[in-house]
Amino acid sequence: MEHPMTSPSNSAIFYSILFFLPIVLFLFRRQFSRKLNLPPGPTPWPFIGNLNLIGPLPHVSMHSLAQKYGPLIHLKFGLSPVVVGSSAEVAELLLKTHDISFASRPALLAGKYTTYNYSGMATAPYGPYWRQARKICLMELLKAIVKETMRLHPVAPLLLPRVSRDDCRVAGYDILRNTRVVVNVWAIGRDPTMWEKPNEFRPHRFIGKNIDVKGHDFQLLPFGSGRRMCPGYGLGLKVVQSTLANLLHGFEWKLPGDMKSEDLDMDDRFGLTMPRKIPLLIVPSKPRLSHHLYSCE
Ligand code: HEM
Repeated sequence: MEHPMTSPSNSAIFYSILFFLPIVLFLFRRQFSRKLNLPPGPTPWPFIGNLNLIGPLPHVSMHSLAQKYGPLIHLKFGLSPVVVGSSAEVAELLLKTHDISFASRPALLAGKYTTYNYSGMATAPYGPYWRQARKICLMELLKAIVKETMRLHPVAPLLLPRVSRDDCRVAGYDILRNTRVVVNVWAIGRDPTMWEKPNEFRPHRFIGKNIDVKGHDFQLLPFGSGRRMCPGYGLGLKVVQSTLANLLHGFEWKLPGDMKSEDLDMDDRFGLTMPRKIPLLIVPSKPRLSHHLYSCE
């Protein structure tokens, strides 16, 4: 006797179902989506959606599609729906008017593996975890800690050397053309006429004070000031603040063994930039977040 699946008529039926089922489902979904009045866009293919229209420069492909279908279009990347805004008006609607509706991030594999299971602020889904991470990032105290560290241990203690372009007179003294000019911000940061107890690490001194590191407050100049001031100060500050925020947010830290904070050697090593003389060794003692955030599985 022939096995049911091997008879020619049965396998024909089986393969027809396999072939037509996705098409039927696909048509059904389109019918359903028509009622929803989705934004315009090209008709998606089963399984691949509109991925066939996206080239190696996705922003350029989407730009062409927007020129054809309008500034708000609906696409399918595989089975996932994607809406693309391509005008200032639509950007305002998506990012401002409906900000709260679009405030989460998709769970992409890139976020899973590059930021330890979406635990980075940029990839975390909208919710209490993200709110907490953002709060820590913006925390006034965190900024105060960074300012206090840059006061006592500026990355470039003498800034970058300058040279005088002309003879000039400064505070009554003559300075000749081609003189090298160095500003010792390390010394300014420890000037007792500027800072109370200048050698103590006291981040609270900045709380409620308007002292910034952007080159306007001359008692604190880790990025220099004036025309040759560091153009990367915004990025530099953000990198330092967010790295510190992530470290403090993720773990409780302790010194190795019985070491106490008074035992730390805080001396610097001189150079164009000024690292610690003895590298800091600290141990994460306790995770502060839910256990699953530390695994990549
Ligand atoms: C915490 C991080 C950083 C610190 C502490 C820092 C500090 C400084 C300092 C003290 C100067 C000399 C300013 C002066 O002579 O008045 C400088 C210059 C400069 N920095 Fe930075 N910097 C940082 C990050 C960055 C980043 C992220 C970039 C680039 C993206 C950058 C690019 C530059 C450039 C190009 C100059 C020379 C500017 C000029 O001569 O006109 N810096 N930086």
